[in-house]
Amino acid sequence: MIIAIDGPAGAGKSTVAKLIAKSLNFLYIDTGAMYRALTLKALEQGADIKDPQKLSELAAHTDISLLNDSNAPLKVLLDGRDVSADIRQPRITQFVSEVAKIKEVRKIMVELQRKLGNKGNAVLDGRDIGTVVFPEAEKKFYIDAIFEERVNRRHKESTGLGQKLTAEDVAADLANRDKIDSGRAVAPLKQADDAVYVDTTKLSIEEVVNKVLGFINE
Ligand code: DC
Repeated sequence: MIIAIDGPAGAGKSTVAKLIAKSLNFLYIDTGAMYRALTLKALEQGADIKDPQKLSELAAHTDISLLNDSNAPLKVLLDGRDVSADIRQPRITQFVSEVAKIKEVRKIMVELQRKLGNKGNAVLDGRDIGTVVFPEAEKKFYIDAIFEERVNRRHKESTGLGQKLTAEDVAADLANRDKIDSGRAVAPLKQADDAVYVDTTKLSIEEVVNKVLGFINE
């Protein structure tokens, strides 16, 4: 079974997706982490983030893998190197939407996501899982929250990671990513017609997980 979880940044998708995967003993596939890993490689190599051809070539020669352990945070390997922490740095967050809007890059990432998902039962979180990657997914969710709450959550998260971002920095980044992710020509962030909409603004993580599990078990 494929469970698709889409929504904007800061809505709680990845936390919820990982807990759902753990509870069902499914594979967890964080598709945003893949775009982040490629962005890290591009920045490390000094590649021009806005050069689609360069980025597509880079994507074609990059090995990204996800190591699942339901009792530990997901491990992201970039060409065999553990980059799980590096891909959460603000400079990656700042540029990832530019990389993710490149058509050829998406083609390569979507292929990888389908390959991983087709291994068996999986929960995938991202922006286009229910619309493009797995339109035939058995269960689809669109996890959302009002902008201020998403800023709050991401700000707390970044402070927890020791990053010195102000709430204004986080708000500017989220507004910028919302705009690029929703406005891009290829696979924009959009709720699938058959997805269940979950507004998490006033819900705890546990409440969201229980709600989503309730729909899955229906
Ligand atoms: O979920 P995240 O914040 O880690 O995702 C990072 C970026 O990657 C996000 O701003 C948009 C892009 N992304 C995407 O375009 N498609 C996906 N399926 C997942 C993420």
